[in-house]
Amino acid sequence: MTMPGNPLEAATHANPWSYYATLLAERSMHYDDALKLWIAFKAVDVAQVLRDPACRVRPLDQPVPLVLGNSPAADVFGNLVRMNDRDKHVALKRMVNTVLDTLLKDKLEQRAQYWVNKLLEEIKPMQAGSGMATFCYRLPVSVMADLLGIPEEKSAGIAEWVGDFIRCIAPGGTPEQIAVGQEAAAKLRACVQEQYLSAQAATNGSLLQSFKQLENQNEFIQLPQIIANSIGFLTQTYEATAGLIGNTLACLSDYAELQQRITSTPELIPALLEEVLRVHAPIQNTRRFVAEDTVIAGNKISAGSAILVVLAAANLDDSVNPSPEEMDLSRRNPSLFTFGSDSHGCPGKDIAISISAVAVNCLLQQGLNLSKLARPVRFRASLNARVSELAMV
Ligand code: HEM
Repeated sequence: MTMPGNPLEAATHANPWSYYATLLAERSMHYDDALKLWIAFKAVDVAQVLRDPACRVRPLDQPVPLVLGNSPAADVFGNLVRMNDRDKHVALKRMVNTVLDTLLKDKLEQRAQYWVNKLLEEIKPMQAGSGMATFCYRLPVSVMADLLGIPEEKSAGIAEWVGDFIRCIAPGGTPEQIAVGQEAAAKLRACVQEQYLSAQAATNGSLLQSFKQLENQNEFIQLPQIIANSIGFLTQTYEATAGLIGNTLACLSDYAELQQRITSTPELIPALLEEVLRVHAPIQNTRRFVAEDTVIAGNKISAGSAILVVLAAANLDDSVNPSPEEMDLSRRNPSLFTFGSDSHGCPGKDIAISISAVAVNCLLQQGLNLSKLARPVRFRASLNARVSELAMV
């Protein structure tokens, strides 16, 4: 098997592990001339980049990608907590954390179970064909739309628009994907805003109701930011959580013994998901843009540079996780970089794990035959996400 040529190819390569192991053993943080990116992959360097205030989530001169022009997609993008730094980020992060804190685990699991049952019936993912991939994409975003208080009948449309919008803002989007994504962003914004302004949103115990209670709290928490970050909950959930479910099923199909153990002891599913997140990370890398000269791992990195932060390699660094490639369900306090860390660290880890645990448990209890998973597993085309798109034969 050929090795990936660089960390962007590794994200969806059949065997990224040997490539990351070689990087970790033989290289240190360096500048890749071809990619025009600094590459940080050791745990210590990844942690340093993620906490360095000089390393921002967007280039200073381009807070919103120019290709998005003056479109609704640009408005949503520019107001996302994920895409801002400093004062605006602090205010938006406080808002999203406050809203997510109102979500009760019981309600989350109950809605996840409801959607698993509904989509099993509707999509029939265990039958031959690509239904399993559709199920993995539809489930997390449907649960999140439901929690936001968006009516059930709008869920399929929302999932499609979210998929289109993500393709348009991901690194490497084609002109066609950008055009489709811009339209999708306009539809998403109209749909979420209509729901937010409706009478039900004031009383239905939804996440939109929680957002309402914060509106106008300060200059950064106004209607456009609330709508953008409600959409952000959908976009941030969509691809990565689909990847967590798909990568877990693919991994179980490789290890019959593990599958048996998990089926008979479903309490182990959260521990399994943690190890899948570490070894088969659905988000493999992220980027930072250097706003002022800084020093990382002894390298002088000048303002204007960009850094590829290889989270998936840091998970496999044996200085923080001994025998890193081994899936060990009793591993104690593993270092996990898949959700980022520090100021931009993901607030959705528990949500992703809860939804995925309900899905994996239900599929196994209903007798999913993993020997019927089509091989080799294919991945969604991406430079940063590793999302198995499963099919059954
Ligand atoms: C397996 C599933 C998930 C993975 C692997 C994942 C991964 C990540 C990563 C790596 C980041 C930080 C990116 C960076 O620093 O450059 C992030 C940010 C974020 N994630 Fe997740 N995520 C997942 C699920 C979710 C879910 C379910 C939500 C729902 C609320 C969510 C909401 C967010 C938000 C709002 C941010 C931006 C935080 C900020 O910039 O301060 N994520 N996620």
